[in-house]
Amino acid sequence: MKVTVTTRSGRELIKEALSLTIRFSATVADLQEAIHKRTKKYYPSRQRLTLPLPSGSKERPTVLNYKKSLKDYTDGNANELTVVFKDLGPQVNYSTLFFWEYLGPLILYPIFYYFPVYQIFGYNGERVIHPVQTYALYYWCLHYFKRIMETFFVHRFSHATSPLSNVFRNCAYYWTFGAWIAYYVNHPLYTPVSDLQMKVGFTFGLLCQVSNFYCHILLRSLRSSDGGGYQIPRGFLFNIVTCANYTTEIYQWLGFNIATQTIAGYVFMAVAAAIMTNWALAKHRRLKKLFDGKEGRLKYPRRWVILPPFL
Ligand SMILES: NC(=O)c1ccc[n+]([C@@H]2O[C@H](COP(=O)([O-])OP(=O)(O)OC[C@H]3O[C@@H](n4cnc5c(N)ncnc54)[C@H](OP(=O)(O)O)[C@@H]3O)[C@@H](O)[C@H]2O)c1
Repeated sequence: MKVTVTTRSGRELIKEALSLTIRFSATVADLQEAIHKRTKKYYPSRQRLTLPLPSGSKERPTVLNYKKSLKDYTDGNANELTVVFKDLGPQVNYSTLFFWEYLGPLILYPIFYYFPVYQIFGYNGERVIHPVQTYALYYWCLHYFKRIMETFFVHRFSHATSPLSNVFRNCAYYWTFGAWIAYYVNHPLYTPVSDLQMKVGFTFGLLCQVSNFYCHILLRSLRSSDGGGYQIPRGFLFNIVTCANYTTEIYQWLGFNIATQTIAGYVFMAVAAAIMTNWALAKHRRLKKLFDGKEGRLKYPRRWVILPPFL
């Protein structure tokens, strides 16, 4: 089979041969390997291959699935195929991205608790550590430790890699918010909330963290270890909300904020809730589209998106 690989401007990517000659039974992954071999720079996860669209078309192009055979995309003409190549830029594994973004808050927060950082900011008096500040440290570290463990041992991601630029963007987000909240919760002039409020906050937050972990176990069970697409999440809170994992994530930050009560903590929760709401709406739409109840497909049940009774 003769495969021509062009860039989005129509230029041929591999000049010297004009085209790649690929085995008749080859898969998209084989084609990606062949492109990598010729170009050296573009390893498979950096490549996005699509089918060409007629000029002027406003439709979204079909993205080639690396597991499929090239024959599936030849549209009757089994000997020739033209694909459009896009460079996705340098990539990192999803687990690497998550590891670095969560490692920052896990390390930065205890620095504010254990080390005399406030002297740098001009506070030279004796620092009395309140019990809530110690519990907040444990709670915070448990949360980020859990996220790192889930990244490596629970989540089954659909995409192997993410653009390298996301590491810098996500680290800036998590590390800055982590340091900002740590600064206020561990501050020498911090005023603790009442004992009852602290207990209510941490107990509620811990329950939500356990629930969030259970939600992630349920999501894991939707895919086999060698991948798979999207399924209808069922069981526990998923019977009520599409993104029960985000719901419990938001509420566990609410628990932390009830117990520690800082503006920084509430601002982080509001920003995180806004981000997760956007993602939850997209996930809800995707599941409704995939499971439309037509032509033998399952019908997605009626559910809240993220926060009943608001959304
Ligand atoms: N504080 C914050 O700002 C913030 C923001 C976002 C997330 N989080 C936390 O981080 C956790 C991970 O977030 P995430 O957005 O990366 O992933 P996610 O949506 O929570 O999903 C976790 C894993 O389950 C898979 N999955 C989700 N829905 C599925 C379905 N219907 N069928 C099969 N598999 C499915 C996902 O696959 P895919 O790879 O295909 O998505 C992913 O590997 C969240 O649950 C939340 O606790 C925090």
